[in-house]
Amino acid sequence: MADDPQKRFEEARSIDASLDSPEALAGRTRVDVYEPALEVEEYTTAPDMRPLSEQPPWRKDFPIDLPTDQYVARRDFAKFLVLTSSAFVAGQGWIAAQNLVRENRLVQPRMKIAQLSEVPVGTSKMFAYPDEHAPCLLVRPDEKTLLAYSQACTHLSCAVVPKVEEGVLYCPCHEGYFDLQTGKNIAGPPPRPLPKIELEIHGDEIYAVGIDLKTV
Ligand code: FES
Repeated sequence: MADDPQKRFEEARSIDASLDSPEALAGRTRVDVYEPALEVEEYTTAPDMRPLSEQPPWRKDFPIDLPTDQYVARRDFAKFLVLTSSAFVAGQGWIAAQNLVRENRLVQPRMKIAQLSEVPVGTSKMFAYPDEHAPCLLVRPDEKTLLAYSQACTHLSCAVVPKVEEGVLYCPCHEGYFDLQTGKNIAGPPPRPLPKIELEIHGDEIYAVGIDLKTV
């Protein structure tokens, strides 16, 4: 039988007509136009050898075999991104909440620590704030000035002593010096200023109301 090119052409067109269609040119031709797509289980195997229907959902979304990765739908991937982003945001919220709770715990009490008459000009008085384990110093360098600091040196926690005439707080352990007016470390090994105790004065009474934890 003689070969008929025209007949062969017509036959080919009838088999795969969609290739010439507008859909094909627009990129909407089915991916399995040339051969049927494989079922997922035909080309992927889980490590425990159980069928995919018995695998946890995450393994269906992210199969271990590379070919199956292609079957992670864009929607699934977007879902995964949203979930991980949400988890990240929730984590940040949890950390922020923890910080808030910690800050609230740091709210210091208001405590009466002395009477003005107990601290003549040029003298100092010890007190404890915010609890009995935290020794502090109240110093009155002149008539109108009252200063208070933690007594624990910021080097190795020795007790500092005031030298009011020299305008310093002195740590005898390693010759550390702090400025009396600011608490700033000015000489010796102390690495930070002394924590300053915030004061309020009402009439003759002196109150400690907070701690300024300076770091520079
Ligand atoms: S403990 Fe104060 S200088 Fe070392």
